[in-house]
Amino acid sequence: MSRSTLLTGLSELTTVDDALGTLRDAAVVIEDGLFAWVGPAAEAPACDDVVDLGGRAALPGWVDSHSHLVFDGDRAAEFEARMAGQAYAAGGIGVTTSATRAADDERLRGLVAGRVAEAVAGGTTYLETKTGYGLTVPDEERSARIAGESADEVTYLGAHLVPAGADAEEYTELVCGAMLDAVGPHVRWADVFCDRGAFTPEQTRRVLEACRAAGLGLRLHGNQLEQGAGAALAVEFGAASVDHLNFLSDDDVAALAASGTDAAGRRRPGHETVATVLPACDLSTRAPLAPARRLLDAGATVALASNCNPGTSYTSSMNFCVGTAVLQMHLSLEEAIRAATLGGARALRRDAESLAAGTRPRPVAGEAPIGRVAVGHRADLHVLDAPAAIHLAYRPGMPLTHAVWRAGVRAR
Ligand code: NIG
Repeated sequence: MSRSTLLTGLSELTTVDDALGTLRDAAVVIEDGLFAWVGPAAEAPACDDVVDLGGRAALPGWVDSHSHLVFDGDRAAEFEARMAGQAYAAGGIGVTTSATRAADDERLRGLVAGRVAEAVAGGTTYLETKTGYGLTVPDEERSARIAGESADEVTYLGAHLVPAGADAEEYTELVCGAMLDAVGPHVRWADVFCDRGAFTPEQTRRVLEACRAAGLGLRLHGNQLEQGAGAALAVEFGAASVDHLNFLSDDDVAALAASGTDAAGRRRPGHETVATVLPACDLSTRAPLAPARRLLDAGATVALASNCNPGTSYTSSMNFCVGTAVLQMHLSLEEAIRAATLGGARALRRDAESLAAGTRPRPVAGEAPIGRVAVGHRADLHVLDAPAAIHLAYRPGMPLTHAVWRAGVRAR
């Protein structure tokens, strides 16, 4: 027999559900890992267990749709040089690749699990992570396998950097061939770093074609270092997301905005290429902030993610990303929360609309939607030690995560 749990005493509940909106003096009921009821506390049904959250604000758990957690070593010296004026370059990936290859399985497993636990402790309840610091067939296969033990979604990023000494064409063939065969069974997604110093548009196209033929969903790193072809390629291939987006043309913005619409301009949720912005990375690389405001105003679906990695964004704090999006990117609190919850869910095609549209790659029967606090959604809840969610931007850097439920289980 399943037990029901009533979480009450929520001064403010941001549901990210258009029908429910933001509720005051609210409560939710969790049963079998799902939200079974959401509404005013005064109307809550009787439950087996009750948790009184004492007048705190709650919202859906963060959905972090872009991270690189499978690595060893750090790059603090590179970061320090950057703060002294040096520019970020893709080549730094090679430093982390050497350290990661040198780690044994047990060490790498512990590092990844520790990083996921850190993210969950900060309110993240669903997390994607990537390979990309192995760059040989066995090292990429190992990274994907270990990532899948801790992360919710795993992405194949063999096309992160052409390893030192390798021929770019031969390496691209390997990514599309033997490496894909080895990694494919462990992953749902494929990604390519399409940018200066990484993969050319033509190489990117080949990797996307091979990975699509293998049944993987597509995502891209694009337009991080220059106004390149990443965003346009992502839309052309129907990728679920294109991430970074610091340098966008008007055509790129228009293409992203139109990506989720039919010929008559009607929205087709679950079909769009989400524009994923990474504010912690932008700050850590001293890059121009991605134009999240411009993208939203144009009608694009925007996600916010941490991009936690040792080179460009060594934080998994989604609280920090959301605060920064409000303070620096000029998103409203509601827009920032939506981007970091439902936006991330859409970027992973695990939102209700994508599941209904059948656009989720490698779907698993019975997967509940994420990204909202609504009946039938996975019970992922983030409770703040604050009476209102605006404290995320009002008190930046403060330890605001009070409690976390992940798939109905208390995780903090
Ligand atoms: O998303 N841009 C490419 N990949 C990572 C950085 C990797 C690194 O420098 O180690 C990113 O920022």
